[in-house]
Amino acid sequence: MVMNDLFNENDAVLSVDPSNRLYFSGVETSFGIVLLTAETKYFLTDFRYASAIKRKLKDFEIIITEKERVYADVDDILDSCSVKTVGYEDEYWSVSSFKTLKKELKKYELKPISAEIRAMRAIKTPEEIEKMRAAQALTETALDKVLSKLKVGVRERDIAAELSYQFISLGADREAFESIVAFGENSADCHHIAGDRKLCKNEIVLFDIGAKLNGYCSDMTRTFFFGEASQRFAELHNIVTKAQLYVLKHIKAGITGAEADMMAREFIKANGYEKEFGHSLGHSLGIDIHEGPSCSKNNTAPLPENAVVTIEPGVYISDYGGVRMEDMVVIKKGGIENLTKYRKTYII
Ligand code: GLY
Ligand code: MN
Repeated sequence: MVMNDLFNENDAVLSVDPSNRLYFSGVETSFGIVLLTAETKYFLTDFRYASAIKRKLKDFEIIITEKERVYADVDDILDSCSVKTVGYEDEYWSVSSFKTLKKELKKYELKPISAEIRAMRAIKTPEEIEKMRAAQALTETALDKVLSKLKVGVRERDIAAELSYQFISLGADREAFESIVAFGENSADCHHIAGDRKLCKNEIVLFDIGAKLNGYCSDMTRTFFFGEASQRFAELHNIVTKAQLYVLKHIKAGITGAEADMMAREFIKANGYEKEFGHSLGHSLGIDIHEGPSCSKNNTAPLPENAVVTIEPGVYISDYGGVRMEDMVVIKKGGIENLTKYRKTYII
């Protein structure tokens, strides 16, 4: 899918979704519209962003407007270009706001194009991959700095706050998602919210963390043991690591998301933990932390070359704890490029 496909049946593309706007323009604003016509790219926003947008967007025509009259401005542009059909993001609009949009742009035929944009965004360009590589490298540096703060009595929230500090201090835009820092039995909650739980000697410490840098996300999970690892933990860690390594070795373009998921699932099942691996193997990411295509049983489509996906098998045992291991990889014809360089050992 390339940009031209978006114009096949549309004279113009109207992008309002913040992630898509960032994809098309490279800039983030809380309010704005990207309007693409065959000849010109327009960015409409308000006074708050005027000088920053003019500085950053050299290849766009910038229109400074207000919420109340932005669609009148869009209409003027479309009119002046003799536009008949406008591609719009059908997966973004709420029912009520779409009614308003239809009224505002009643002169034009509106065509849904969310699926086409999703397909474009699924295949990353070398520049996008470079941004994700940098976001991941930053995440790894942050984790190393934070590991040294682990000591008996420290709370999960203290460590999560330290991660936020490190991300920003190292140059990130922000966290890609709320950092998951889970001690002991809390690590069995896949999406645990870091709380007041204090770290004790000889227990699990799970980090699921990512930074957003230059608009692009990273995502990594590592599970450590604070103290002398028990045999039970070592065994779980070994199974999850081997399941992940097996997928990393065999996944490549053309394999379906469901097949990739099954590779890890079969391995974990053979080791007796089928029911304890209750989520999908992975997801794509980019501007958003969760994008398509996924590595899940629901995705029976072949993974395309240059999709960036996570490979994150896990085993979770209530009242004991969980182990997850997550890398972020670029899908290639003959295999993968792993953007995650962080060690897979559990010793802190
Ligand atoms: N790392 C968070 C998630 O994948 O949902
Ligand atoms: Mn993930």
